[in-house]
Amino acid sequence: MTTPVKTNSSSRSATGRMAAVQEMAGLQRMLFEIEREFVRTATTLVYRVGDIELKYLICQHVWESAGHARFLRERGREMSGFGKDESVRESYRSIFEEAIRVEDPLVGLAGFYGVLKPALLAAYRHYLEATHHLADWPSRKLVEEFIADEERHLDEIIPSIEKIDLGEWGEHLSEALDAIGGWLGERPATPLPEGFKWTHLDAPYEHAETCNRGDFPVCSSVFGHNPDEDPIVREWLENPDTDARVIRLMVYVWLMMELDAVDYLATIFYDTPDAPFELHYDLARHLWDESRHSAFGFRQLPRLGVDLKTLEHSLDLYNILVKMSPPERYAMMTMEFEAGSFPVKANVMDRVRELSDFEADTLLAFDRNDEQQHVRYGHRWLPEIMKLHNVEGPVDAFVEATKKRFEEMAEIHGGKTPHSLMPERRLTGNKLLALARIEI
Ligand SMILES: [Fe+2]
Ligand SMILES: [Fe+2]
Repeated sequence: MTTPVKTNSSSRSATGRMAAVQEMAGLQRMLFEIEREFVRTATTLVYRVGDIELKYLICQHVWESAGHARFLRERGREMSGFGKDESVRESYRSIFEEAIRVEDPLVGLAGFYGVLKPALLAAYRHYLEATHHLADWPSRKLVEEFIADEERHLDEIIPSIEKIDLGEWGEHLSEALDAIGGWLGERPATPLPEGFKWTHLDAPYEHAETCNRGDFPVCSSVFGHNPDEDPIVREWLENPDTDARVIRLMVYVWLMMELDAVDYLATIFYDTPDAPFELHYDLARHLWDESRHSAFGFRQLPRLGVDLKTLEHSLDLYNILVKMSPPERYAMMTMEFEAGSFPVKANVMDRVRELSDFEADTLLAFDRNDEQQHVRYGHRWLPEIMKLHNVEGPVDAFVEATKKRFEEMAEIHGGKTPHSLMPERRLTGNKLLALARIEI
């Protein structure tokens, strides 16, 4: 039998005995929180920046950061003192909230990559110096890899931010970081200067009304029925007489337009601040998958003779869904658009196989595999996102009601983006037909 006094003293000495481990586990816990908060907030840049390759790159970095967080959590949980919950401390949250309260998305990007990420790199380096290289070798291996990733992230983003004058915004974020002595408190803290104002306390953050597509022409939707107007002619996709090369071009347009999924999925991280980490981890994977699907089209279409400046980007889905709640957005995506796409895509895949185009077959097979996974995510996480937003009742009924509401919202918010290009200039079904004939 153990007396209370004895328990206390033995737990005290246990703490003392394990102090070295607990100290490092504490640092890992901090790094985990920083990475997961980066994932939650940097995703708001995705729909705000207009450069398509930059959108893809942010999605890739978000995915890698989610991976860092996951490995930190796994390793951390092997160590005494990491903690069981997954919440983020308020001091970190304030800094990341601040980092997204900026008008110009490229200045925002530069804030993340010019201040917050270099400080994270410094924090990882500090971890390596602070820990014992033999005793904590499992963590050391991870941290060495993360350092290489962080260095590469900074290199990869340079072309996008090198001309940005970070000026006062950079100072503002640096001051916020200095006040906690760097992410890990690894340097002396400097109190916030007099007059420092947290802008995020003034106003809630709101997602952009529409997504940014930079210099690319835009429209409401690329799906339609008129080959003189629309690039994806629905009847042609299913008509067995359609030339398989036209089907291939159309499915690449379709894939490229999954950029709308990238933009609206990116809004859900911020909207679920209390999500279990596993949910954000799967969303990050989902996001990166959609960005790669879009890149399939973005890279392949020019090879097949398409001038991407003639292909209008469809904005309807973002514009409509951003007006709906996060569970509604996620329900439409996974339970309607993704779950409903398999039969049409199966037919498309069979037609494309006629061309013996190994690369096209490969891209479509991976797309299908990813999409199956996304529907599984939907089943797993929609009930969770509903709970986070206090939506009660059965999931099926919610999905049905959401489909109806989407129709209503589409009436109000859809079809509002006029064509940037006249039909003569625009990529249409008939232009794709002509291209397919040239390319024998
Ligand atoms: Fe996709
Ligand atoms: Fe998907």
